[in-house]
Amino acid sequence: MQINKAHPIVSPESTTFTSKAHSKSAHVGVIGLGYVGLPLGLLFARNGFPTTGFDIDQAKVEMLGKGESYISHIPGSAIAEQVEKGGFCATTDFALLTGMDAILICVPTPLDPHREPDLSFVCNTTEAITPHLQRGQLVVLESTTYPGTTEEVVLPLLEKSGLRCPITRYETDGFRITARPQHAGDFLVAFSPEREDPGNKQFQTHQVPKVVAGVNASSALAAQALYGQVFEKTFVVSSTRAAEMTKILENTYRCVNIALVNELKLLCLRMGIDIWEVIEAAKTKPFGFTPFFPGPGLGGHCIPIDPFYLTWKAREYEFPTRFIELAGEINAAMPEHVVASLRNALNTRKRCLQDSRVLVLGIAYKKDIDDLRESPSLRVIELLKDNGAQVDYHDPYFPHLHRTRKYDFGLSAVEPTAEALASYEAVVIVTDHSSYDYAAIVRNSRLVVDTRNATKDVKEHRERIVLC
Ligand SMILES: NC(=O)c1ccc[n+]([C@@H]2O[C@H](COP(=O)([O-])OP(=O)(O)OC[C@H]3O[C@@H](n4cnc5c(N)ncnc54)[C@H](O)[C@@H]3O)[C@@H](O)[C@H]2O)c1
Repeated sequence: MQINKAHPIVSPESTTFTSKAHSKSAHVGVIGLGYVGLPLGLLFARNGFPTTGFDIDQAKVEMLGKGESYISHIPGSAIAEQVEKGGFCATTDFALLTGMDAILICVPTPLDPHREPDLSFVCNTTEAITPHLQRGQLVVLESTTYPGTTEEVVLPLLEKSGLRCPITRYETDGFRITARPQHAGDFLVAFSPEREDPGNKQFQTHQVPKVVAGVNASSALAAQALYGQVFEKTFVVSSTRAAEMTKILENTYRCVNIALVNELKLLCLRMGIDIWEVIEAAKTKPFGFTPFFPGPGLGGHCIPIDPFYLTWKAREYEFPTRFIELAGEINAAMPEHVVASLRNALNTRKRCLQDSRVLVLGIAYKKDIDDLRESPSLRVIELLKDNGAQVDYHDPYFPHLHRTRKYDFGLSAVEPTAEALASYEAVVIVTDHSSYDYAAIVRNSRLVVDTRNATKDVKEHRERIVLC
């Protein structure tokens, strides 16, 4: 941490907090122990910070207490180790927030049925913090959201406690924080976007630089000091709004580029060009090109959702976010394209989709994870059923297709044995899990519709494969 000596930042809260962060004696509370909050809490615990996880889900809290995991890529042993050492515990008792020095909010930020931001989880959590808020505490929002949420929604709810945290501007070059002497607030508020990529084996949580910002310099310094202890790099921006926008830019960038390759895929299919071959070739350019890959549509908690948080906020400024809308339109149409490709492929084989038995492979929204939020597989199954097909599925991570907010198919996984595969009119690969034997799938199936180019290395029976 570096402070411009010419303009010292005179907040006793941040000084006390910073020394606690540096000595790793700051007690860290993480609220929302899901895909983001659990690994974050364990990261602080592993680094020697006494850490408490808070969740409203009693079942999760009980599992964590027993050192058990409910997320496939986080081993129970990693939890048990910290629980046994006494460095990590989980609770549903929000009164324990009074004992925390830092409170990190990692709760969901979905869209409502009208595709507008649903901040109810963030608001409920903040309202649960307010009665327990203490002088000198740092509260950090990590949930992805539109620019302005921390200042306009979270901070006013926290100030209902009677304590104050003034919004004042500061400057930063990413590392140094400079500010005029400020009114010291009673507590500290920051935003730091989560960049978790579940299942990513290349980058661990602590290796991904952490963007941080405070509503004032003291808060920014405190957040920088805390995260700097457990992340290899932090990067400070000059406002929580800039930090919130950073995360939305990252996800919108992916959303728009995926839409671009999805659209080019549709054109390439008409032109008889293999889009995956084209991307492999373009990738050889050492500058100015980042590969994105086409697929059956967007999935996950972030990319299909976050850009629409910005679209909603942009309306306040009478600004249409045309790239986001167009990308959303193209990506959302991909499941229909998958089903149309299957219908055409059956047609050319003198079969029809109505009453055909179809096996969908892969329910998770991406390979090798156990997360089906917003998964395009669910929409594909819905469309297949609407077309009168008899649908089964398999996914190594989902023995049963549990109920989601939108779907309730009541299905259980069917093992893709040779006999089972042969009994279906068609197999549709929606998620390209690494554990599948694609050669065997093609060998034993009559027709394989491949939405991910998962069968690229299969040499035999290629006439059975339809890339789409
Ligand atoms: N999953 C990702 O890959 C990812 C990546 C980057 C950012 N994010 C963002 O991080 C945030 C959290 O996402 P997630 O994937 O971890 O969600 P999740 O659904 O996996 O976990 C959220 C947890 O919060 C708990 N919860 C809900 N309301 C609560 C409340 N009022 N008090 C306490 N706990 C509560 C739930 O029980 C759940 O355990 C979202 O804003 C998301 O957009 C997610």
